[in-house]
Amino acid sequence: MSNDFKAVILAAGQGTRMKSKVPKVLHKIIDKPMVDYVIDESIKAGASDICVIVGHQSAMVKAMIGDRVKFGLQTEQLGTGHAVMQAGDFLKGGKAVAVLCGDTPLIRAETLQKLAQKHNSEGNDVTVVSMILDEPFGYGRVIRSGESFDKIVEQKDANDEEKACKEVNTGVYIFDGDKLLDAFDKLTNNNSQGEYYLTDTLEIIKNNGGKVGIMVAEDADEFLGVNSKLQLGEAAQIMKRRINAYHMLNGVTLQDPENTYIGKDVKIGADTLILPGCYIEGNTEIGEDCIIGPNSRITSSKINNCVTVQNSTMIDAFVDNYTTVGPYAYLRPNSKIGEHVRIGDFVEIKNSSIDDGTKVSHLTYVGDSDVGKCVNFGCGTVTVNYDGKNKFRCKIGDNVFIGCNTNLVAPVEVGDHAYTAAGSTITNDVPGDSLAIARSRQENKEGWRVRRNK
Ligand code: UD1
Ligand code: CA
Repeated sequence: MSNDFKAVILAAGQGTRMKSKVPKVLHKIIDKPMVDYVIDESIKAGASDICVIVGHQSAMVKAMIGDRVKFGLQTEQLGTGHAVMQAGDFLKGGKAVAVLCGDTPLIRAETLQKLAQKHNSEGNDVTVVSMILDEPFGYGRVIRSGESFDKIVEQKDANDEEKACKEVNTGVYIFDGDKLLDAFDKLTNNNSQGEYYLTDTLEIIKNNGGKVGIMVAEDADEFLGVNSKLQLGEAAQIMKRRINAYHMLNGVTLQDPENTYIGKDVKIGADTLILPGCYIEGNTEIGEDCIIGPNSRITSSKINNCVTVQNSTMIDAFVDNYTTVGPYAYLRPNSKIGEHVRIGDFVEIKNSSIDDGTKVSHLTYVGDSDVGKCVNFGCGTVTVNYDGKNKFRCKIGDNVFIGCNTNLVAPVEVGDHAYTAAGSTITNDVPGDSLAIARSRQENKEGWRVRRNK
């Protein structure tokens, strides 16, 4: 039997309890907004179609999510049931429509698949995922009569007996779309919050003669609902441990996993060692046998094998095999670094390519430049790439020796095997094999102090 399902993801609420200007589902866990995790897992579980319900600051939420899903708009936040109503035709004819919340980022694809399977094999009209909590405060309680589903009562509407119930609603369900649409006809906002609760539709479906199933979650962590910054921190901690465990089981060494932050989409090869204090994010890919850290930030970069990165930052950069970066280097977007290159301390590279075997050892800025193989940069070199209006490129050939404290005023080209003298400001092209000296000659005025003091 096919376990196809569609998904509606609720993301219209403001999240008052977050006490933030930013809409709740956009708060990040490591490097991605919460709602992205829910979308990713839905796609991974095989959701054939996804509709995200937006409302509060909808333009901002839509822009962050992008165009990989459909959107429904809830202009007024009148409750979770009202939110799902806005999906409208998306629900029609759907035998299995999952409803998920944008604020439960720890949900796993495998669990969604299990839920879809149970829903189909039991022939349910709705299947809700419940969990057992020692401290159920804040969640809706799943009230049973005998073993079967009776109703869900929200925290604010529960009496003392109901409040004592430890089985709670995770906020994850699969509905028969048409049965849900029928239930909406009878849904009221007759409760302590004056909201249209999605949770009430389960009782309505039951009373309409429908079949309500319950799947008790094995791992309650997956359904932690993030309503406050405290819960955001808890969810981030769980996600971090989950991601780090995955890499360690793949053969990556994390010296201090509690103090290592790796985004969910990052790939790392076996026998790479990550030292404490690293923040590795975006779609970064790191190869095998690298040593990264301590204290490095690597964003959406590709690092090949046997690379060392120490106390450095890189963004949208590429680093090839056997290269060392840092300490205290900054590789900015579109830096392409070859093999066996040395990028040393206080070096900044931007929008430049540095070919194999080149050494940029200290205190140097290389911007908008194409640098050949086996070039040696003296300390304090600056590519002067900006005249206040436009940017220009420098081209440096193979085996060039750039003397200390050289300014290369772009656009300028230095030919293969050329030298620049220390302290030169190079404004004209330097032909290959030549030495460029661009500084005034030293003059010693002997006995000058004695004459002045007379
Ligand atoms: C909800 C459930 C509760 C469950 C809990 C699990 C209801 C009535 N209650 O409570 O039983 O235990 O989740 O985490 O469903 N949203 C909208 N539009 C609205 C209201 C909410 O899109 O009008 C969205 C929010 O952005 C959020 C999600 O729905 O992503 C859940 O809303 P929230 O207010 O957090 O519900 P809870 O009080 O947590
Ligand atoms: Ca919630």
